[in-house]
Amino acid sequence: MLETGQAPPLTSEPRKPVNPLLRRKPVEQMVAEGGQGEGGSLRRSLTMWQLTMISIGATLGTGIFVVLGTATPKAGPAVTISFILAGLTALFSALSYAELAGSVPVSGSSYSYAYATMGELIAWICGWCLVLEYAVSVAAVAVGWGQYLNELLDGTIGVTVPEAVSAPLGEGGFINLPALVVVLLSMVFLMRGAKESATVNSIMVGVKIVTLLLFIGIGVMGIKSGNYTPLAPLGVTGISAAASTLFFSYIGFDAASTAGEEAKNPKKDLPRAIMLSLAIVTALYVLVAFVAVGAMPWKDFEGTEAALAQIMTDVTGNSVWGVVLAAGAVVAIFSVVFAVLYGQTRILFAMSRDGLVPKVFAKVDEKTGAPRTNVVIVSLFCGTLAAFIPLGKLADATSIGTLFAFGLVNVAVIILRRTRPDMPRTFKVALFPVTPILGAIACAYMMFELDSATWMVFGGWMIVGLVFYFLYGIRRSGLATAEVVTAEK
Ligand code: ALA
Repeated sequence: MLETGQAPPLTSEPRKPVNPLLRRKPVEQMVAEGGQGEGGSLRRSLTMWQLTMISIGATLGTGIFVVLGTATPKAGPAVTISFILAGLTALFSALSYAELAGSVPVSGSSYSYAYATMGELIAWICGWCLVLEYAVSVAAVAVGWGQYLNELLDGTIGVTVPEAVSAPLGEGGFINLPALVVVLLSMVFLMRGAKESATVNSIMVGVKIVTLLLFIGIGVMGIKSGNYTPLAPLGVTGISAAASTLFFSYIGFDAASTAGEEAKNPKKDLPRAIMLSLAIVTALYVLVAFVAVGAMPWKDFEGTEAALAQIMTDVTGNSVWGVVLAAGAVVAIFSVVFAVLYGQTRILFAMSRDGLVPKVFAKVDEKTGAPRTNVVIVSLFCGTLAAFIPLGKLADATSIGTLFAFGLVNVAVIILRRTRPDMPRTFKVALFPVTPILGAIACAYMMFELDSATWMVFGGWMIVGLVFYFLYGIRRSGLATAEVVTAEK
């Protein structure tokens, strides 16, 4: 019986009966298949900085520009502490991601880590949750982008996109065109391949970082020490409620792990990119929040839609600065759509190569090295969702799916250390096994903090996923058709 992660046998041993739900894919086989698609290969072109920018691109957006405004009334000036707490929760899982991305550097991210450690069924469930984290969140974020675009247009040329074409049915319109446009624009860039996509992404990330630094530089002049007292008017409960809300703003740091097969030096660079992006994002969040609550009384955040732009205008006395900030937000949220869409296509690429979703997702265009058909299908799916479906409730569903996937990654680290203790690791979780255990507990705790409606959506999503697996993946899986399959221990 083979152990998890052993190299695939080359001899024609007789086929051994294995429970399909528990069959696992050896790490070495995953790595050996790296990059190979149907009819072509992905290209290794991404540097450590580009990988870092992919993670920052997917992370920094709606959370700081929009969600800060809804979280501050929950915690008061202590919202800065809430950002630190949410960042610590993300840190536990980021450490686990970094260890696994360094040892299993493929494009499937947590789906692949689960396949190597917990078997096919759990891997499928994880991959299905990643669709919530990536595809559904692209649609939700694209909807938010439309709102910011309207604010920018209003502030600059005094016109806005009419409601009939900027909201879906059920929310006062027929179609959300701006949301569709941002997804389709991303599609056009992504079709050109990883290298070009990374360049576009890095430019957008540069713009959003400069915008936030500008906010810090200008906002600091408006700080009034009185705004910081009392620091925590709503106590520890308020701080923790705000931290749960703000966890959303850290989702996306794992995006670099979907680029494992396009990185030049994945084993070394992926762990670095994941940790570096989280450090940069956390520092920016904490500074921006500290300046924001110092410059505007915390109670004024209630009902203020674009708090950061408002602060810029108030501090300078010139509305141009508010417009500059709104422009930065438009670019920032665009880049989240872009980077997350990229991640979704690469996760489906890995799942398709394993046979769990149709082969068309692993088809690579020889000229560009991009999985073009995959990009088109995913973009049309996300674009349609964003254009026609009211997505209000789906933001929390995104968080629950993400937390589930993060929880599994923490468990996967523990399993892989036990089953493959000698495997070379370029990055190791500190204080093992305390850190991944705390990470898994923190994810479970935050999942249970979410309301019952979110759990219902999650439950429904899981049922659809399981039906698909039992009708399709279980028989089409590459491991089902392989000569010898990896057995459960
Ligand atoms: N973290 C991403 C954002 O804040 C989802 O937009």
